[in-house]
Amino acid sequence: MAGYYPGMQDGDNRRPFTPGLLRGRAALVTGGGTGIGRGIALALAAHGAAVAITSRSADHLEPTRRELDLLGVRALAFAADVRDAAAVEAMVASVAEGLGGIDIVINGAAGNFVCRAEDLSPNGFGAVVDIDLKGTFHVCRAALPHLKRSRGVILNLSATLHYLGTAAQLHVSAAKAGVDALTRTLAVEWGPYGIRVNGIAPGPTEDTEGVRRLLAGEKRERARRLNPLRRLGTVEDVAAAALFLCSEAAAFINGVTLVVDGGQWLASHRVSGEP
Ligand code: HXC
Repeated sequence: MAGYYPGMQDGDNRRPFTPGLLRGRAALVTGGGTGIGRGIALALAAHGAAVAITSRSADHLEPTRRELDLLGVRALAFAADVRDAAAVEAMVASVAEGLGGIDIVINGAAGNFVCRAEDLSPNGFGAVVDIDLKGTFHVCRAALPHLKRSRGVILNLSATLHYLGTAAQLHVSAAKAGVDALTRTLAVEWGPYGIRVNGIAPGPTEDTEGVRRLLAGEKRERARRLNPLRRLGTVEDVAAAALFLCSEAAAFINGVTLVVDGGQWLASHRVSGEP
């Protein structure tokens, strides 16, 4: 990863946030081994937070855990499938014990594949809803006692697919619409505990499994061309938004899902053609 922000190169010390932004905080990032989850985990660590990452696949975890270590923070990794509520309970307990509590929860674990609704099996639909929506619920639920103690923050990774009708993405659209509802409802229910619950909805993001699966070849160029900012998002774009929402700068922001897509979904009309 070149840097934590767009245009930032290795060794570049210009940063929008102070390096001590999250010093003393403990963060849990599901799906933290790869893609956007990894980028957020590294950004949290680069700003002082101790970080635990989880993934279904232990192979995805160790390289990122080592990168977190190199940033000089306490870094833990646990293999757990967010679909398994009991495994999530055990994982969250281990994280809280290992890090001395939990202040920040990032729900990044997600699944996706391209499949039209008429070809989608009940199990295919269920697999994505189980990972994205039920997994997010399982993690929030297990983390609640710890977040009550820390008056902490939850950040749920969503998408913009369900704002319009996105073909071949029924399963993900349904799951992420549910995630957005969960974000708003938990913000209302858990706000009185001092817990803020927000989301981020990235658009197509470079170097992620999502773009590899959804935007092969020419589709990717087209997405770049049609984005008002004439590029796809980067992991660093999303990580910067996560840092903001997890920090005290967002102390009064609760229940929002912040779109980080350069205006892509707003521009995806089908009436007047390409700009
Ligand atoms: C149709 C498919 C399919 C495909 C799987 N299935 N892939 N159906 N087309 N390409 C069906 C299977 O046939 C099966 O149903 C059911 O889904 C479960 O499949 P499994 O392979 O057994 O599931 P599992 O091993 O648990 O894998 C879960 C997964 C997989 C979601 C299917 O893709 C995965 O693990 N993904 C994790 C990584 C990932 O997707 N990252 C990208 C996230 S991107 P049957 O009926 O046959 O039993 C993202 C952002 C989106 O979330 C926004 C982008 C802009």
